[in-house]
Order: sequence, then structure tokens, then C-alpha cells
Amino acid sequence: MKVSASFLSSRDLVKDLRALDLTDVDYIHLDIMDGKFVNNKTMPYSELKNIYKYTSKRLDVHLMVEDPEKYIPLYATLNTEYIVFHVEVDKDITKLLKMIKQYGIKAGLSIKPNTKVNELVPYLPYLDMVLVMSVEPGKGGQAFIEESEEKIKEVRELLKAYNIPAVINVDGGVNDNTISKCRDADIVTAGSYIIGSDNFQTKISSLR
Ligand code: DX5
Ligand code: ZN
Repeated sequence: MKVSASFLSSRDLVKDLRALDLTDVDYIHLDIMDGKFVNNKTMPYSELKNIYKYTSKRLDVHLMVEDPEKYIPLYATLNTEYIVFHVEVDKDITKLLKMIKQYGIKAGLSIKPNTKVNELVPYLPYLDMVLVMSVEPGKGGQAFIEESEEKIKEVRELLKAYNIPAVINVDGGVNDNTISKCRDADIVTAGSYIIGSDNFQTKISSLR
């Protein structure tokens, strides 16, 4: 299992990013919120772009925004491996996925807990990642929604049926108790479980 670390609940970004850089974590999960698609708002790009100073890890960018087109060109310039936005946005999704790929970056879609898996079908050929939300997007530290286990399985079946080599990432409420429900995923994203501890590496290892 690969592990991506979300620092959304960090109180000391520089310290936590430096500490994460010393672990074997696979990705830094960068949560971007616009105050519209979700209520909360994250710090602006002008500040977030500086994270390269504290970590050499590749980024897995999660856009919780209404208008991904405004954010893709910005986050494509960082040390980014994946950019993912939400299948629920009312935009030309295929065009946006192609836009991400034009930057040479892997593209993905995230799906909220109440959205049906078959909403992904029209976009499958363009997907390198499906990010299954196991909490309502918007904030860290929420409890893992139990039904997500079934959702992950459904996404796995869908990818298999259409022969799509995309990876599955699970985001929200992942910890050493809920990891058993994520066994069908390739990557898990964990925030408060890692950042809220005093030994990041132990927590990361417990999820593998
Ligand atoms: C939720 C974010 C998640 C969150 C994960 O809206 O997309 O990435 O930070 O944090 P935990 O692991 O605390 O649920
Ligand atoms: Zn996220």
C-alpha cells in the first residue's frame, strides 16, 4: 500500500513538512479548497508554492474547487505527480482532464460519498487515479464512512470491467483501524492520523 500524507490539520507546516520528508511516505497530498465547492478555504497558491523548500516528495493535488481550470496551471508547475478534481463539478470534465495531461501530469477524478460510481464512466479513458472520498470533503479529522469499503470495491470492479489501469486512492478518516476497509485501494491518504502523532514514520508504516 502506498501512503499519501495530508497536512491540512497541521499547525506548523514547515516543521511537519520537514518531518514528513524524513519518512518513506510516497506522496504529499495537497488539499486545495476554494470556499465555494466546500466551505473552507486553504492558503493561496502564493504561499503553498513554497512547500518545495521543505519537501522533495512528489505531490498528489486534490482540488476541492468549483473551477479547476483556474487552479490546474498553477499546481501543474510544482513537483506534482497527480492532479485530481471532483466529478461533481459543473464543468467540461473531459476538457479539464486533457488540460492536466497537457502539462505531462497524471489526471484523476474524486468522488464524494453520496455520488454514484457510474458517474465516472464517461471519463474512464482519461483517468490515472480515482480518489474515493471516505468522508465529506471540507475538513480533516472526520470519521471514516463505513460504506466506503463497498464503494472502493465498486470502483475496482468498474476499472477492471473497462480495463483501465488507474490507481485508487482513499481519502478521509484513514487510520490503523479503518485501513482494513481500504484493502482494495492502491494508495491511502491520511491526515490527522499522521500529523497528530509524534512519530510520523510509525503511523505511515502501520498503514502499509
Ligand atoms: C478532506 C480532505 C482530506 C483530509 C484528510 O476534505 O480532502 O485530504 O485532509 O484528513 P483526515 O485523514 O484527518 O481525515
Ligand atoms: Zn484530500
